[in-house]
Amino acid sequence: MENAKKRIFSGVQPSGDLTLGNYIGAISNWTKLQDDYECLYCIVDQHAITVRQDPADLRRRTLELLMQYLACGIDPEKSCVFIQSHVSAHAELAWILNCNTQMGELSRMTQFKDKSKSHADNINAGLFTYPVLMASDILLYQTDLVPVGHDQLQHIELARDIATRFNHYYSDTFKIPEPYIPKVGQRIMSLQTPENKMSKSDPNPNGCIKLLDDTDTIIRKFKRAVTDSGSEIVASPDKPGITNLLSIYSAVTNQTVEEAEKEFAGKGYGDFKLAVGEAVASALDPVHKEFERLKADKAYVESVYKKGAELAGYLASKTLRKVYKKVGFIAK
Ligand code: TRP
Repeated sequence: MENAKKRIFSGVQPSGDLTLGNYIGAISNWTKLQDDYECLYCIVDQHAITVRQDPADLRRRTLELLMQYLACGIDPEKSCVFIQSHVSAHAELAWILNCNTQMGELSRMTQFKDKSKSHADNINAGLFTYPVLMASDILLYQTDLVPVGHDQLQHIELARDIATRFNHYYSDTFKIPEPYIPKVGQRIMSLQTPENKMSKSDPNPNGCIKLLDDTDTIIRKFKRAVTDSGSEIVASPDKPGITNLLSIYSAVTNQTVEEAEKEFAGKGYGDFKLAVGEAVASALDPVHKEFERLKADKAYVESVYKKGAELAGYLASKTLRKVYKKVGFIAK
């Protein structure tokens, strides 16, 4: 690449609403990487259609996700923000990598096994080869680091295996990417069942804070958050509810869990839950305002994804050209 900064690639599917967990665990970390790395942040709409999507919803969610990236502080002057389907090289490389990936490797993917259960009426070939498209996303950009949650580590491992095998068979072509796992304490759990990760598909809507929930909803959900027995506000393995609230509070107020524990020493659970709700609401307030502003500025949003697609397309075409040559395709 043109400069010495390491390259980062990550993506989110436009298949549901972003949660406070996505914000604390992913997007707000992404914003901090923008000065030190060359970052590409993608909206992976092609991955989203591996499960049925209503076309109008998909269109709306894609643009809303892009606006949420920007509202959270991803700066298109620093990072390349783009929509996967705008860069045809992703699908083109995926075909070639499909021919270099074994059925057995894909059958072992836990996300495939889980999704085949939850979408038993639509176990399509795209769901099966999903990890190959993800490997293409990453490998096209000669990515150094991929910030992801633990649930995606198996996919990164597969991308590394595919790249290593390709490099051995056809000679050095792809950089071997590494996962980039954010620091501890950033796994945000459900407010209702704190043993489980906060998820947009939580059966109890009070378990999950959405990034775009309004202030009243946020405070109401925190007031109803489950706590643990006892009355002390300390983080410990036998207090999953309080521990989760402390990590959320410390993340949105930029302090350590120890500092938060000190602040609430001697206070009751009720006051604490209200304080966490208020802190989250005030951290998200500027995000909401910026989101509303962007929603009213379609031309700007369009200019961001067009510029992103142009840069990503240029970078991707360099790798794809190399790959085509190596596998024996005739240059046009
Ligand atoms: N599979 C990822 C998820 O569900 C999304 C994704 C697609 C991704 N392509 C990627 C993440 C490339 C990182 C890099 O979260």
